[in-house]
Amino acid sequence: MRLIINSGGPQAIDEWRAQFRVFAPELDVAGWQEDVDPSSVDYALVWAPDAGRLATFPNLKLIISAGAGVDHILADPTLPRHLPIARMVTARTQTEMAEFVLTSALMITRGVKRIVDNQSRRHWEIFDSLRVAADVRVGIMGLGHLGVASAQLLSRVGFPVSGWSRGASTLPGLPSYAGQEQFGDFLANTDLLVCLLPATDSTRGILNRDTLSRLPKGASLINAGRGSHMVTQDILDALDSGHLDQAILDVFEQEPLPPESPLWSHPGVIVTPHCAAIPDRKERARHTALLIAANERGEALPNIYDPQRGY
Ligand code: GLV
Repeated sequence: MRLIINSGGPQAIDEWRAQFRVFAPELDVAGWQEDVDPSSVDYALVWAPDAGRLATFPNLKLIISAGAGVDHILADPTLPRHLPIARMVTARTQTEMAEFVLTSALMITRGVKRIVDNQSRRHWEIFDSLRVAADVRVGIMGLGHLGVASAQLLSRVGFPVSGWSRGASTLPGLPSYAGQEQFGDFLANTDLLVCLLPATDSTRGILNRDTLSRLPKGASLINAGRGSHMVTQDILDALDSGHLDQAILDVFEQEPLPPESPLWSHPGVIVTPHCAAIPDRKERARHTALLIAANERGEALPNIYDPQRGY
């Protein structure tokens, strides 16, 4: 049985092979650049595969995304649409994302960016009003595995948390809003908006002028969803007008974020390099091995992309 891997480039293939020797010794692991007989490929573990390549494997059974999102796979116009695509959602991904959101929320609450900027100018400034977690109402958009894990961790630390999803998902034990009708109420009660939505046609550009204007003045934003959720100029305008206080952004329409982007130097913005949740190769190999074994046994697989929902 052959697994072909496009994740981490040719330099990562030795580590992938070493990991799969532990978790699935029977698998024949091939690198994306290797010249393999296309009909010998049963499984593909990929991040942003070059368009057209997946369609050349006639016996492919399952595409496994190397990340939680699948937008980087759906971007291939020749993608064999009949094949299932598994999203990489592991316990470790959830923990990493939840801790990224918690760290960001505390940094925003305590004004860490301003303190660090002050330090670089040797400027001693004590803020007038010190906020604690209980003062900052966090609203999480997107109530999948990552949204729920983040909500639970922030709630344990003392942030009042609510959630919003386009569909009917809810946050166990916490207030949840759903759909377009409740979007305004959700935003009006949110001091810190966290975007963990999937990238779909209906979420494109959702972090726009209209959405931001419905947050209370002085609210802040964390985006660890996708760059396509943001209308960047609208976010910059909201920061410049003071309506938005701070933003921590992990994802961008163009990555790496180009050096000329005004986001790099905006005093209200922290840029992080799409690093919120990246499970290591060991974790991803373990998860991939479990998926392949379950698929070979004919079992239903978790977190399969649903074209109806778009994620
Ligand atoms: C990263 O953004 C992922 O989809 O896991």
